[in-house]
Amino acid sequence: KKDIFIFGIETSCDETAAAIIKNGTDIIANVVSSQIESHKRFGGVVPEIASRHHVEQIIAVFEETLEQAGLTFQDMDAIAVTKGPGLVGALLVGVNAAKAIAFAHDLPLIGVHHIAGHIYANRLVQEMSFPLMSLVVSGGHTELVYMKEHGSFEVIGETRDDAAGEAYDKVARTLSLPYPGGPHIDRLAAAGQDTYSLPRIRLEEGSYDFSFSGLKSAVINTVHNAEQRGEKIIPENLAASFQASVVDVLTEKTVRAAKEYGVKQVLLAGGVAANKGLRASLENAFGKIESIDIMIPPISLCTDNAAMIAAAGTILYEQGKRDGLDMNGHPGLDI
Ligand code: KG4
Ligand code: ZN
Repeated sequence: KKDIFIFGIETSCDETAAAIIKNGTDIIANVVSSQIESHKRFGGVVPEIASRHHVEQIIAVFEETLEQAGLTFQDMDAIAVTKGPGLVGALLVGVNAAKAIAFAHDLPLIGVHHIAGHIYANRLVQEMSFPLMSLVVSGGHTELVYMKEHGSFEVIGETRDDAAGEAYDKVARTLSLPYPGGPHIDRLAAAGQDTYSLPRIRLEEGSYDFSFSGLKSAVINTVHNAEQRGEKIIPENLAASFQASVVDVLTEKTVRAAKEYGVKQVLLAGGVAANKGLRASLENAFGKIESIDIMIPPISLCTDNAAMIAAAGTILYEQGKRDGLDMNGHPGLDI
């Protein structure tokens, strides 16, 4: 059987990325150009700046990807690109570049959902076995996704307000930490203790939905109250307390969902999957459940990249899914 080479493109937020994946599982090349430095001084991603950076970087990122692989576009079987969700101006840069290459080299074009990409990052590490449950936690998403087979996604729970990563970034800002704040909170938390009593927001009994805005407000109030009383907060302990609340709720709901749906595997996905506290908590919880394997990709595959897009795109390619040259970017795409 002939090898399948998929060229993946990701530009939904603030990383300009391209990758080549062989047979859905082998990383042949993986290039990520981050814009974090350009957005840092604004405390978050500025959509206009993101689009401009993608335009400036994308050709160089493609060239470096092909060079790393020692391959050309002629060697590819298809072009896979993130079509949504994300920042519309940012998505359009990747989508239009993908269309141009597909047209010029007469290659199939495949639009990929960003979250499907995050989930398929796991397949670059180990084969998926179904049914499985994926906890997707990123700057824009917090979802429990049930998969009974390749390409089938059922969202059984999602955030009703802030995404987990968004809560991390906002709490970090309250503690005057730079953007993106997740890794800084994670680092502080490791040096602190859970001494501030913060809420665990579980919503109605049996619900798999999440809510983090109340927790974020509780952290902000803790800081303000301390300021008013002229007391100093201990950032390490506040970070540890916040992280403990997030991790407790994420772990608890993921364990309950995995048991109820009788899954064989639990996959962690998205930028917040880089969180050391969350990784340890899930490994510990599922370490005690023999029938369920926990899979956690290396940190470089958790944050935005195009290898995951090409991995998810390979499944769509094998299923015969194709998009036309009229494909658009969809900022609010459902999985
Ligand atoms: O998946 P991603 O790269 O972009 C989106 O699709 O949103 O996720 C970025 C998010 C940011 O909110 C960032 O603060 C968070 O992931 N993040 C972390 C950690 N590393 C990145 N949050 C908590 N702990 C970390 N170690
Ligand atoms: Zn992402």
